[in-house]
Amino acid sequence: MSDIVLSVQGLSISYLTARGRLRAVNGVSFDLHQGETLALIGESGCGKSTLNLGVMQLLPRTALVDAGKVIYTPRGGQPIDALKLKGSALRRFRWAECSMVFQAALNSLNPVIRVRDMVYDTARAHGENDMRRIKARALELFKMVRLDPDRVFDAYPHQLSGGMRQRVLIALSVLLNPQVVLLDEPTTAVDILTQRTIIDVLKTLRRELGISLIFISHDLSIAAEMADTVATMYAGDLVEIGTVNEMFYRPAHAYTLGLLNAVPRLSADREALNSIPGSPPDMIDAPSGCKFHPRCSFATEICQTSVPKLEVLNRDGAAHWAACHHSDQVRLSAQEVLADDHAAD
Ligand SMILES: Nc1ncnc2c1ncn2[C@@H]1O[C@H](COP(=O)(O)OP(=O)(O)O)[C@@H](O)[C@H]1O
Ligand SMILES: [Mg+2]
Repeated sequence: MSDIVLSVQGLSISYLTARGRLRAVNGVSFDLHQGETLALIGESGCGKSTLNLGVMQLLPRTALVDAGKVIYTPRGGQPIDALKLKGSALRRFRWAECSMVFQAALNSLNPVIRVRDMVYDTARAHGENDMRRIKARALELFKMVRLDPDRVFDAYPHQLSGGMRQRVLIALSVLLNPQVVLLDEPTTAVDILTQRTIIDVLKTLRRELGISLIFISHDLSIAAEMADTVATMYAGDLVEIGTVNEMFYRPAHAYTLGLLNAVPRLSADREALNSIPGSPPDMIDAPSGCKFHPRCSFATEICQTSVPKLEVLNRDGAAHWAACHHSDQVRLSAQEVLADDHAAD
């Protein structure tokens, strides 16, 4: 039997804008296995949040799912297409099966609603009525995320620090015991020590509850620490996916290599960062061929005309796919960069 809990298959999502149709997610496919953490990386605007909102059917009205399926397998149940769920089945799916910690949510908490009411409202909205049980569960989870349970339960958001609020939201996301949690930049709006606490708390929850995570982050060091699998998105496309070691030691897409080169290294006293030149493309009128070609130092003529497909790289070894016409050269170049790093140690 397969242990895939969530299988995103050919998902395409666009927004209707005044300038035309913006394809924010373009034929994205991947599988999430039981207990796996998948990190989604890529610059701002590449479609990470849209993809996750699409999975949850929480897109704004101006968005359209153009194609694709999101096959979800409940514990001990038959696979269903989550995009076809409606009404009470959809409410149950959201939160009791698959929940989300939204990007920047910690700054948008309603200041006049106590944490206890957030807990009860969340439970009620998703069809849970046994409030004594819910309270006991919330207190247990608050403890697990290293909050003082009783104090936090009765607090208003403004009485808590940003890191504490984020941990409340993380605890709320697992209140109804979902199998899958989508975390959208959970460490972006907090300071570095708080980041550490949040990462540790997520690891505890993952271990204690056996949940699978999709973890959106543009901080590659955090992705490296959390992820089993890493997927790179560029301009709506999933351009590379593989095990965390493959992706960070043997990247095969020029864009992933560019992201890695833009990370400051302890060993490097070289003149600061090699940020990727240029900026992400206009997604209403994207470049032909490989959308990354105008920014890519490996690009040749074929990159301007032919759209690279995701191809498997290691026939026998660790899982790894990349959509790059020059993946062999990218890999060679990545080896040189890493060798330089070792030489500098
Ligand atoms: N509500 C919206 N209406 C129109 N365009 C949007 C909307 N939300 C996001 N977009 C566009 O969709 C693309 C993907 O955005 P998003 O999914 O937020 O990316 P990411 O999370 O990777 O930063 C961007 O070009 C963004 O400007
Ligand atoms: Mg986002």
